[in-house]
Amino acid sequence: MLKRKDLLGLYDVSAEEIDEILTVGASMKKLLRQNIKKLPHLQGKSVTTLFYENSTRTRTSFELAAKYMGAHVVNIAADSSSVTKGETLVDTGKTLDAMRNDVIIIRHPMGGAPRLLAKTVRAHVVNAGDGMNEHPTQALLDMLTMRENFPALKGLTVAILGDIRHSRVAKSNLFGLTKMGANVRMYAPRTLIPDGIERMGAKICSSREAAVEGADVVMGLRIQLERQHGGLFPSLGEYAKYYGINESVMQYAKPGALVMHPGPVNRGVELTSALIDGETSRIEEQVLSGVAVRMAVLFLLTKEEL
Ligand code: CP
Repeated sequence: MLKRKDLLGLYDVSAEEIDEILTVGASMKKLLRQNIKKLPHLQGKSVTTLFYENSTRTRTSFELAAKYMGAHVVNIAADSSSVTKGETLVDTGKTLDAMRNDVIIIRHPMGGAPRLLAKTVRAHVVNAGDGMNEHPTQALLDMLTMRENFPALKGLTVAILGDIRHSRVAKSNLFGLTKMGANVRMYAPRTLIPDGIERMGAKICSSREAAVEGADVVMGLRIQLERQHGGLFPSLGEYAKYYGINESVMQYAKPGALVMHPGPVNRGVELTSALIDGETSRIEEQVLSGVAVRMAVLFLLTKEEL
């Protein structure tokens, strides 16, 4: 049973805890599919989203998840808060705590910022993406989407291609998927592979085709231009040509292999438009899984107090 104050990453979350979140997430998704969006699980709770980086999917889905379960929700964007006047993260957290917030959902460009906040505040803290470190609810929603399409995560082969170096999604998926018994392969230009990722359980492949060969799921990752400081690959056009996922590359995967991407997608760079919009794409399904899994996380973290 999930018995923790915060969800900061999947590095130290057990397979049993992941399984519980995915099971509750699957039930939530069933309700969402029936258009049931009025649930009592967070009635009387206050949830704040505190985003120091831009977001469409994560912030909106956390807000909807909390509202569908009856919480009061406040959204703070760093550029319209007292952070611009020099207030520290810790002081911002203490201020939100004093207002009796029950959950703070934080996205921050610095890896480790959610952990620092969690140490300081009474509220539950959920990491919505910290720098190049982790994005645990993204990996959970990816796993929920996979689990709905296959009998089990155990034994699946998942190929992850893209900007692995700068990707918190890649790391959280690697931690989560390997704990659940899946095999994770990765491929990217050498400059976009971080040192030590193999020690974390990834198999680094020598070509796109080798990574995708026999894979059940092929996941593209966004080229994170905002975290790159030049010189990691020649141009987006060349990236697409030599490293992108296209129909010829997908022929190496298992027939019907799923195409996934956490979004936002650079169309024609990480994935071709035909694959993004094709029958085997689960990119929109991932978005619905995101609301469901975030409902599960918010409920499970706070349920002791109900
Ligand atoms: N996948 C993801 O984190 O998307 P956003 O940046 O839109 O939240």
